Amino acid sequence: MQIAVLKERRAGEFRVAASPDSVKKFVAAGCKVAVEAGAGAGSQISDDAFKDVGATIAADAASAAGSADLVLKIQKPMTAAEGTDEVGYLKSGSVLMAHLQALTDKPLMEALAKQGVTTFALELMPRISRAQAMDILSSQSNLSGYKAVVDAASTFGRAMPMMMTAAGTIAPARVLVFGAGVAGLQAIATAKRMGAVVLATDVRYAAKEQVESLGGKFIVVDEEKMKAAETSAGYAKEMDDDFKKKQAEAVKTEVLKSDIVITTALIPGRPAPKLVTADMVAGMKAGSVIVDLAAEAGGNVDGTVKDEVTTTANGVTIIGYTNMPSRLGRDASTFFAKNILNFVTPMLDKESGTLKINWDDELVKGTLVTKDGNIVHPQLAG
Ligand code: NAI
Repeated sequence: MQIAVLKERRAGEFRVAASPDSVKKFVAAGCKVAVEAGAGAGSQISDDAFKDVGATIAADAASAAGSADLVLKIQKPMTAAEGTDEVGYLKSGSVLMAHLQALTDKPLMEALAKQGVTTFALELMPRISRAQAMDILSSQSNLSGYKAVVDAASTFGRAMPMMMTAAGTIAPARVLVFGAGVAGLQAIATAKRMGAVVLATDVRYAAKEQVESLGGKFIVVDEEKMKAAETSAGYAKEMDDDFKKKQAEAVKTEVLKSDIVITTALIPGRPAPKLVTADMVAGMKAGSVIVDLAAEAGGNVDGTVKDEVTTTANGVTIIGYTNMPSRLGRDASTFFAKNILNFVTPMLDKESGTLKINWDDELVKGTLVTKDGNIVHPQLAG
């Protein structure tokens, strides 16, 4: 079986969907791997590093993908209208795996179906324990949460931990985290390790114990409503106006006291909830820093500008980067590649050397978007 790893062409994307480790394992399993020249450059993985583990280097995307049975990418392929017709390079009958943002780009899914490509949207991986090692959202969010705190700390003009020195004592920084999911919990852990005092809030009551186990203080808004706020998939529900009002009152004083605010709150398929209002930002101390990890979905903070770092009139810096994992390209690529390897390995048929996909598997059904010329995912079909 021929696998192709394409170079990412979208602005700000430095990751690659394979690592020397994942290529080595695919080659050991009998696959041929072609990596597009320069695909790993943004993640400090040279063509030679891929060659050393048995890959061939393809001069361009067309030659890498043209004969591939399985094409691996980080982001969705480009169309001719976007500058490079990556969709057109995919051969009919091939399989594509990437973070496709499938549910919000039906025209692209139609184009992939028309091209005869079997498409797996890795962001739709079911949130069950068996799939944890294949979950790109988790592996990438974990790095985002870490990087958000590192970015905030380097922008913040003061130290994070309490310091008692001969020259005097400084108080620890106060960090407030909105949303204690994967990214938020890593942000809490990172800020604690740096010595900050950490508070957090979430709509899911289950997050309380997790925040406390990391040494953070959890702000409870309305226990009863929070206990009913989690869907069966573990995600948050949209809360009613009464809850939102109570939440704003409960967090406002904490926002005003905070030196650093990290927001990660998301509701699948909906715009991000606005949690830090303009008047809260206006009341924060000069020099405070906000990192809005929900910027891609519209932001949790009034005033976030997508992909930009801005400073308000009262001296609060708001960081609105949308592709945080890409800023830790090497580790993010290594995790992403491992997630793919874990998903593909059970599908490899050693005898025939091809992909033998179990169409009844819950993980296959959850991520499969196009097959045999049609869109088949229940959330998009019809
Ligand atoms: P996410 O990225 O969709 O949301 C981030 C956080 O924001 C969540 O904790 C959510 O409850 C919170 N949130 C939403 N609206 C909010 C609001 N108005 N105010 C405050 N917080 C708000 O979620 P993520 O991080 O992807 O994880 C969601 C759940 O999935 C968690 O329970 C996690 O443990 C679970 N999970 C399970 C996995 C598995 O079993 N394979 C893998 C990864 C996560």
